[in-house]
Amino acid sequence: MLFDSHAHYNDSHFDNDRFEILESMQENNVGYIMNISDSMKSVLKVLDIAKRYSFVYASVGVHPEETAELCEADMELLEEYTKNPKVKAIGEIGLDYYWDSVPRDVQKKWFVRQIELAKKVNLPVVIHDRDAHGDCMDILRSENVRDVGGILHCYSGSVEMAKEILDFGMYIAFGGTLTFKNARKVREVAEYVPLDRIVIETDCPYLAPEPHRGKRNSSLYIHYVAEKLAEIKGISYEEAERVTCRNAKRCYRIED
Ligand code: NI
Repeated sequence: MLFDSHAHYNDSHFDNDRFEILESMQENNVGYIMNISDSMKSVLKVLDIAKRYSFVYASVGVHPEETAELCEADMELLEEYTKNPKVKAIGEIGLDYYWDSVPRDVQKKWFVRQIELAKKVNLPVVIHDRDAHGDCMDILRSENVRDVGGILHCYSGSVEMAKEILDFGMYIAFGGTLTFKNARKVREVAEYVPLDRIVIETDCPYLAPEPHRGKRNSSLYIHYVAEKLAEIKGISYEEAERVTCRNAKRCYRIED
């Protein structure tokens, strides 16, 4: 069975067929989905979707681009939400210097605060790092992310950076970009990272893999990522599927 370790079914791109599409997952061999929060507003939707489906789990957290208006009361709310047993991670949290829509100091402040929360409630973190590798690694280092572990999502860094992420005990997630024709750098990282530290994801509705690049993505396309990973690693498709599913369950501490 496949585990989509990062999806956004609360997104408005799914407003017309959210439940239909989720109900088709299990017959298409998608056994687990981690639905990821990205704003305070998204959290309630994410929790509602997780409540409806036994195979859909939830993360709670605020994406760097949504941190402008955050306050301490929001941190208390997030902590309260983590009491829900379907909540398995804090995320997605991190830094985004590509859009740079929120001052960097503000992004950093709430990145640190949310790692502190993860440590307090003992949940792994799901990290978003776009064009912010240096500052992101500084914070992961100084905040001892190793204490909780987690996933660096949609990995876009170097092999050297991957080494340090692995030293933190974290997993590295590959998605649609692994299948893109110009993805030489990310494929080099996938060659380097040991199979037992790799998870796969869609980040749907974004980043659809080839041959659907540019269209709306969903977990129904995650097998293309598993196929590409199998090719890179020189293993069977079945093994890529089995090991990435096991890794995601281990990282998110899902037992069944
Ligand atoms: Ni995402």
